[in-house]
Amino acid sequence: MKTVVITGATSGIGRATAAVFKEKGYQVYGIARRVGTDEGIKYLTADVTSFESLEAVFKQISEEVPTIDILINNAGMGISGSVENTTTEDAHYIFNVNVFGVFNAMKAVIPYMRAQGHGKIINISSVAGKLSIPFQAFYSATKAAVNKLTEAIRIEVKPFNIQVMNIMPGDVKTDFTKNRRKNVQNEEYYGTRIEKSLEVMEKDEQNGMPSSYVGKVIYRVSQKRRLPLYKTIGFKYKIFVGLSKFLPSRFVNNVVGSIYGFTKEK
Ligand SMILES: NC(=O)c1ccc[n+]([C@@H]2O[C@H](COP(=O)([O-])OP(=O)(O)OC[C@H]3O[C@@H](n4cnc5c(N)ncnc54)[C@H](OP(=O)(O)O)[C@@H]3O)[C@@H](O)[C@H]2O)c1
Repeated sequence: MKTVVITGATSGIGRATAAVFKEKGYQVYGIARRVGTDEGIKYLTADVTSFESLEAVFKQISEEVPTIDILINNAGMGISGSVENTTTEDAHYIFNVNVFGVFNAMKAVIPYMRAQGHGKIINISSVAGKLSIPFQAFYSATKAAVNKLTEAIRIEVKPFNIQVMNIMPGDVKTDFTKNRRKNVQNEEYYGTRIEKSLEVMEKDEQNGMPSSYVGKVIYRVSQKRRLPLYKTIGFKYKIFVGLSKFLPSRFVNNVVGSIYGFTKEK
């Protein structure tokens, strides 16, 4: 029996992905700060911002199963507000969860994957890592950082037969929307723009793809003999990301601004 470890498995995309892997016969370990309730999943608690807590979790898993075949770095969160008024604390926190969380888990699992001679690491990034969204700047920046971290480490660990990739889902209907930390402090100069921008984003998320679909795609990609470097999920997002490679960056930035910027508003 193969083993997959999924961070952020108590909700949304991670939970749905855990269900698919379980159905396909994997031993599934779910890591989060809470203990999940789904049958057949082994939950271990850890905060991804703590390397020590992840190190302990992977040690325990390695003692229970012969191999750790796949790690899915899915735990993540969002913040919103203008860059100017984001608190240093919030900016650090989102980087701690979304970027250092991925770093911590990769750092903890790689020794086991190297020793067993194989492994796959799938980092859940976002389309926002390619197309940076106003008033979600720090979220976009963390996902861009995950993309770049992945591009480099993929090359570093290739000789160990460890493959690393990014999956960039478009909007998905999950509790992510509810869990987003909204900054409403000191935003007087931005007027209603933040609210309107967030409204567009939240509506897209809540009308987004079901997490069950995203879970199935993540499973399908994970089974490829050779993992691609990037996989975008969602037809319209594939088109956006594809076009953004060829169109001038200023044009792409203006298009994003016309959807989320409300630059003509007070
Ligand atoms: N929803 C979307 O539209 C969308 C689009 C693109 C990418 N994504 C990405 O997909 C991933 C999953 O998001 P989701 O939509 O499924 O969100 P979600 O429903 O809010 O789930 C987030 C998961 O992360 C866990 N988590 C959060 N902080 C953690 C921490 N410090 N340590 C350990 N676990 C932590 C949560 O569990 P606990 O609270 O129990 O710790 C939960 O299981 C994120 O990386 C997100 O950026 C989402």
